[in-house]
Amino acid sequence: MTALLSRICVAVAAHDDFDGWRDSARALIQAGVAPDRVVWTLPGAVAGDLFAACPAPDPAPDPAPDAPPVRASRDYLDLAGRAALHADPARFDLLYRVLWRLQRAPRLMADRADPDVRAIDALARVVRRDMHKMRAFVRFRVVRDADGADHHVAWFEPGHHILRANGGFFVRRFAGMRWSILTPQGALHWDGETLREGPPASRADAPAGDPVEALWRTYYAAIFNPARLKIDAMVKEMPRRYWKNLPEADLIPDLIASAQAREAEMIALGGQESGRPPESLAALDVAVAACRRCAIGCNGTRAVPGHGPAQARLMIVGEQPGDQEERAGRPFVGPAGQVLRDHARAAGLDLDAARLTNAVRHFKHVTGTKQRLHQTPTAREIDTCRWWLDAERHLVRPRVVLALGASAARGILGRTVSLQHERGRFVPLDDGVRLLITSHPAYLLRLGDDAREAEAARFAADLALAAQA
Ligand code: URA
Repeated sequence: MTALLSRICVAVAAHDDFDGWRDSARALIQAGVAPDRVVWTLPGAVAGDLFAACPAPDPAPDPAPDAPPVRASRDYLDLAGRAALHADPARFDLLYRVLWRLQRAPRLMADRADPDVRAIDALARVVRRDMHKMRAFVRFRVVRDADGADHHVAWFEPGHHILRANGGFFVRRFAGMRWSILTPQGALHWDGETLREGPPASRADAPAGDPVEALWRTYYAAIFNPARLKIDAMVKEMPRRYWKNLPEADLIPDLIASAQAREAEMIALGGQESGRPPESLAALDVAVAACRRCAIGCNGTRAVPGHGPAQARLMIVGEQPGDQEERAGRPFVGPAGQVLRDHARAAGLDLDAARLTNAVRHFKHVTGTKQRLHQTPTAREIDTCRWWLDAERHLVRPRVVLALGASAARGILGRTVSLQHERGRFVPLDDGVRLLITSHPAYLLRLGDDAREAEAARFAADLALAAQA
């Protein structure tokens, strides 16, 4: 009874409130409250639960007058911040016990054989995996808002309390879209400017299927590579518990069953994939945003979709978005875009009437310095992204395509292009569209004064040709 009376009940305000928990934990340590005297209570715990054994939370204890500052190493904070999001109701007990021990043994986290350290590490690993799965498996369906704009809504069931912690990722990746992610723990809503939180939702609150879903299924079936099929590895990557919310998952049994036949077919086709392209530009943008088919798609930047009229007569294709384009979510808003705009104006070319897009949709760059420095995509990366550029061209149906530079020309033609030999004249494409190849405006920015003058004149002449066409 005495032991029970000496216990201190501390409420954690939300399941993922690591910062709040940390403030309480610091105060308890400074007041000298040992781990076995603390009961952490979580929202929603019901009477009778071990971790709800408190009738009411106690006030924060006063620190001992001579209490030293609380010590917590960086590796503890990193792991603890993640482990705190685990669904295990005993996690805050564990975190407090380790924090308590760290005051006496500051190098405790380096002892990977210690059972408490291993336990935190294991929780953190599970949470990291759950966050990754959410990033990979959220599937948006499009609904129309009252103002007629597209709103992308996804239903997802996280295994742990990761929704808020993953919010920043979805904001960065889908900054230009209006979206909501609904979960049983709460919801996130992004309107293009502000991220709001909403109450827990149920699956019935989310739309059940739409054209984007059909696209996902087509896309998945197209990229499913039977030659690489390893069922165990696939199930590990895409655990069965996520299948029920993945539009493409019900294709898996059939795809596996037909894998051998498709493998033979693929060998006969020289490895070409077959798939139906997306049926709308909105569907294309959603699918491109989720594309991870090459290293650039996996580098954590967001995809920059094409911009401009859906039925433009002129399509201008660049290489890939740059630093500013990636931040803005729009092509050609940076320095190269400014050069393009200046020359286009002089040539009488109305860029607002043109569709601006890129051969590669994600920003390839070198990290490690303060600036994100542009890196040229490889031929293979351009070829991987070609499926999207082709799809966009077939949806927009321009009469003229202006390719800026060799990467853009490769994106259209699917082969290496010599700018020197092929620029400045129209090349007919299979579907009757006329392709004009010119240099990339960023090239002008790199030239010295004399060379720039000559190149600017050629660039201007090419744009004038496009304007005439
Ligand atoms: N350069 C490109 O090729 N595309 C852009 O969108 C911006 C710069």
